[in-house]
Amino acid sequence: MRFDIFTLFPGAYEGPLTESIIKRAQDDGLIEIAIHDIREWSRDRHRSVDDYPYGGGAGMVMMAPPIVEAVEATLGDDIERVPILLPSPSGALFTQALARDLAQTDRLAIICGRYEGIDQRVTDLLGAREVSIGDFVMTGGDLAAAIIIDVVARLIPGVIDDESLAMESHTSGLLEYPQYTRPQRYRDREVPEILLSGHHARIENWRREESLRRTCERRPDLLDHANLTSAERERIERWRETGVDDGGR
Ligand code: ADE
Repeated sequence: MRFDIFTLFPGAYEGPLTESIIKRAQDDGLIEIAIHDIREWSRDRHRSVDDYPYGGGAGMVMMAPPIVEAVEATLGDDIERVPILLPSPSGALFTQALARDLAQTDRLAIICGRYEGIDQRVTDLLGAREVSIGDFVMTGGDLAAAIIIDVVARLIPGVIDDESLAMESHTSGLLEYPQYTRPQRYRDREVPEILLSGHHARIENWRREESLRRTCERRPDLLDHANLTSAERERIERWRETGVDDGGR
């Protein structure tokens, strides 16, 4: 899969995309990441890419022409079919479900803004999809773009092993259960005994219960869409009435 990033700060991607799993995925040819400097598409000799907002207000707004022309020239005929994302705190929430859809495509473009925003005509002319990575405001879209690439890339077959993918938070619609490794006792805290028992079925039950408990406590909003048995739904109802038992932690 190929990612095309359009940015004013190409250096922002050193680190997030040049280490660890994402580096290996590029070395192995599973993903390709091309970073395009929007300023190269500026039309004037000062290489300006932003201007004052019509209607007044604080800060500068990124102009449409350099971005639209950079994206059109780079994507060429692919522009009709390639999803174009525009990270923004005013976008719809970027979710694991959207990441799964995007991982099915072979090319993804991401436009990163700075300053107070981007001329609305960029979104409108390119049919871009504005996405937010959470209810907070960052200084720009570059870190969000790196996060989106990380989330999508690891869903591409071969980037990480399938078993880790199947087990983790959000795949089942629930948060992940707690994990432990050696030492068995640390500062008077023991690993839960059941994990040492070797009873696979009981361990699975315990993990499921912990996932439910955590989700109920930390992200009850996820429960509406989670795949739960009727017994689990009843248990959650009881927890809601009596409070979630924290399992002694
Ligand atoms: N740019 C600034 N804040 C952002 C957010 N929360 N999500 C995506 N892009 C952003």
